Amino acid sequence: MNRFIEGNTIYLRAIEATDATERYLAWINDEEVTRGLASGVYPSTLDDLKKYIQSTTSSKNAVMFAICDKSNDLHIGNIKVDNFDWVSRTCELGVLLGDRSYWGKGIGTEVMRLTLQYAFEQLNIRKVMLAVYANNPAAIKLYEKVGFVKEGCLRQQIHYKGEYIDKYYMGIFSNELQ
Ligand SMILES: CC(C)(COP(=O)(O)OP(=O)(O)OC[C@H]1O[C@@H](n2cnc3c(N)ncnc32)[C@H](O)[C@@H]1OP(=O)(O)O)[C@@H](O)C(=O)NCCC(=O)NCCS
Repeated sequence: MNRFIEGNTIYLRAIEATDATERYLAWINDEEVTRGLASGVYPSTLDDLKKYIQSTTSSKNAVMFAICDKSNDLHIGNIKVDNFDWVSRTCELGVLLGDRSYWGKGIGTEVMRLTLQYAFEQLNIRKVMLAVYANNPAAIKLYEKVGFVKEGCLRQQIHYKGEYIDKYYMGIFSNELQ
């Protein structure tokens, strides 16, 4: 496996067509995984996954990594930076640890730090943005821990199980990375 970025417990490599597996499909059809994501409202198929990977990897406006366990090379999630603005030097970020057995072990924190370092140092990005729903306390905690700051709130923006949830926008500059 071609390890593009190496951390202590995980490494990041380019995602590829062969990563569209039943395992990955199970993540995005898992309600616990998708409750804080825009995906999950409609069912996904393997074909949808293949098309998504194909469109992302062929785009010049996105870099997507497979997150892999260093101990066994297992693909456990993805992280993506996209929507680059090369004039303002900003981009957006999205992370998904699909395999729930890996939650709560500091892996999200490790992956975020590695990817933010990559965006700031290698892509010469100045500021990274993301959106997160108020019903995702683990993600909010993680983002604040690595240095993201809440910049805006779309009140009651997202429908989730009969409720309307706030959607936050958060941002981080390179000198805020913790
Ligand atoms: C959000 C996500 C990336 C977090 O990854 P993770 O590896 O479990 O996070 P970490 O173990 O690094 O934990 C980060 C912090 O959040 C805290 N945390 C974890 N779960 C929590 C919860 N349910 N409520 C509050 N805080 C929580 C941890 O304690 C840790 O803080 P600490 O170091 O001060 O103790 C992961 O749960 C995930 O991929 N979820 C599904 C997809 C998703 O929601 N993505 C984000 C969309 S915006």
